[in-house]
Amino acid sequence: MRTSDEFNLQTQPRETHRIFNRWDLIPDGWYIALESSRLKKEQVRSVQIAGQHLVVFRGKSGLVSALDGFCPHMGVDLGIGKVEGEQLRCFFHHWKFDRNGDCTAIPCQEKIPSRAKLKHYRVREAYGFIWVHPNEKAIDGVLEVPELVGEKSSWLHGKSYHRSCHHHITMINGIDPQHLSTVHGIHMDMDLEIKEPSSNLFQVTLRGKIPSKRLIEKLTKFFVGDNYCYSMTYADGCVASLSVLKEVALFGKFKILPELHMIFGYQTVSPGKTLVQPIYLTRKRKGFWGKLYGRFLLTFTKMAFSVLQGEDGEVYENIRFQTNNLLKMDRPISRYINYINQLRPSAWSQPAEVMKKGPAVSEITSEQKL
Ligand code: FES
Ligand SMILES: [Fe+2]
Repeated sequence: MRTSDEFNLQTQPRETHRIFNRWDLIPDGWYIALESSRLKKEQVRSVQIAGQHLVVFRGKSGLVSALDGFCPHMGVDLGIGKVEGEQLRCFFHHWKFDRNGDCTAIPCQEKIPSRAKLKHYRVREAYGFIWVHPNEKAIDGVLEVPELVGEKSSWLHGKSYHRSCHHHITMINGIDPQHLSTVHGIHMDMDLEIKEPSSNLFQVTLRGKIPSKRLIEKLTKFFVGDNYCYSMTYADGCVASLSVLKEVALFGKFKILPELHMIFGYQTVSPGKTLVQPIYLTRKRKGFWGKLYGRFLLTFTKMAFSVLQGEDGEVYENIRFQTNNLLKMDRPISRYINYINQLRPSAWSQPAEVMKKGPAVSEITSEQKL
């Protein structure tokens, strides 16, 4: 099926940005590989992450490793191999690899060829998922919700879903002030605060006074007070956090209303297909009632998100995003696009000359060459 990117090419040409809305470029960042619970000790799985074929395995100690997924000998999928201690053995000719992707054993000879190695990747476990970063030297971890930094959190996984537009576009939803009124019926003048604490982070906080013209607005104002505030943080253009119900108080007086938090992990599956994984978060609470309350908040967050998503999900199924008519009011969007465009493409991006010319094949004939 043709995607919206393939229509109207003459009359409405598709814009090409440096990074934004590009299916072929994968910026450095944390991408979800699979749920932690699906990889037990001494288990291995091959996974496709952001269009890259990888193998992830959990050693005897519980540590997870991620390597490129095809054996450097003859290219067999290492996902059908076997974990031995902290290493992985290829099913086909039993070459063995450590966590750094170095070959440590070849059954039929002692000498290990210098090219017998795999690229390895950085791994983190967070929010019940295994995340992988294309840059093995990445120093920062998976995005934390700023409001929960330093606290332990409980989470609930939402159902993942696909979108036919690039996730750089779906990620705009939370910072598009015009659509709050036109689609969601939230008629509020919002003050904007935009911060870029580092080159891979972009934060937007929106604050407004709750209006009191309509009954629903009056009721909202009665329950949560005069002010409303929510914030979004983007990391590497592939993870986003959303915190809502900030700075509200029950009956405008009691600061007991909890903030609700979400994290979204995004990745390209193939051109025209993006994967979104919602994760609902709350501060970890102790005791039976604390846990029950936490569970209630997570379920409530999930339901609230489903309602909002239902209101404008359709927009993202049929959109040809363009940037040449953005208004002054769209400032957070233009700033966000500029932020995306300065991200760094990773080694998982498609090379421009993909498969134009194959390499010459020759046998390795001497020990020297090895
Ligand atoms: S293909 Fe993996 S050892 Fe030969
Ligand atoms: Fe929306």
